[in-house]
Amino acid sequence: MTDRRVTGLLQPRWLPGHWSRLCPGLIALLVLPLTSCSGTHSALDPAGPEAANVAQLFFVMLAGGVVIWVGLVAALIYAARKKREHSEESAGGVILWGGAVIPTIILCALLSYGMWLMPAIRPWVPDDQQVRRIEVTGEQFWWRVRYLDEAGETMFETANEVRIPVGEPAHFSLKAADVIHSFWVPSLGGKMDMIPGRTNPLTLTADREGTYRGVCAEFCGESHALMAFTVRAVAPDEHEAWLAERRVSGSQDAEGLAIFLNNGCGACHAISGTTANGRIGPDLTAFGERTTLAAATLRHTAEDIARFVAYPGVIKPGVKMPHFGMLPEDDIKTIAAFLKELK
Ligand code: CUA
Repeated sequence: MTDRRVTGLLQPRWLPGHWSRLCPGLIALLVLPLTSCSGTHSALDPAGPEAANVAQLFFVMLAGGVVIWVGLVAALIYAARKKREHSEESAGGVILWGGAVIPTIILCALLSYGMWLMPAIRPWVPDDQQVRRIEVTGEQFWWRVRYLDEAGETMFETANEVRIPVGEPAHFSLKAADVIHSFWVPSLGGKMDMIPGRTNPLTLTADREGTYRGVCAEFCGESHALMAFTVRAVAPDEHEAWLAERRVSGSQDAEGLAIFLNNGCGACHAISGTTANGRIGPDLTAFGERTTLAAATLRHTAEDIARFVAYPGVIKPGVKMPHFGMLPEDDIKTIAAFLKELK
């Protein structure tokens, strides 16, 4: 398409001058919301029953809103016409019906529908009937993930990436270590606040395989927007095999581990099977199987791991991890390579 044709499309001549200049902005405004209607991070593309109910509630509310809006526009047009005709007719009936009776009926109907749907959006399951139990703690600015056994004891700990089996409800116990965070996986269900001193339950089910993106939905500090995570839904037997493997993971690479330990990384991070047993930062056991870094902020590559180890506070302002940029470059590279392959 030639430049002139593109300009013609974006700035049509048949519109008056200032409207024509506004046109590209208006097109962008109309198209932009549509780009977020599908994918791994959309409440309008549900991947489970809880999310499907949320999406349904949205569309019913939208329909109610459209009915009210159309009624309002009709009332406006009616009023404008009456004014032009200098009508002496009383508007009492229109105000009573249009301003009070009809909106009350519509809003009551929407409220009742929302209340009726509520138990399905937040299914309550007694503790002793919960099989898949995962505890997630919001921290500034990452997610501590613990897989619990039937007795509620921690089997192992990981961070920022959650795995659940397809077709089985996963029961999350949501906590916060410092300030209020909010756990939200739009494709799988509604959001739930994580409040210090409380444990909030949330049940999510994925009915198709995939990796879904979650975010923190409550402002929690400088890097609130850099606090994402993933939920990967896999076949139940694949999930069982992974749980069994993760219970016994440990590290092997002696040289990388030695540099990791000598620089004090083990004071904040744990790696199962080694002397690194710090609890302040994310548990790095089996870090090599993760797909993202720094709570889904960076790619899981040796270069990005090295960047983060050297200057974490530049990438994520406000993180507790100190800079390690003063270490010899080779040490940082060895630590990054060691973590990248850590099984
Ligand atoms: Cu954690 Cu926002």
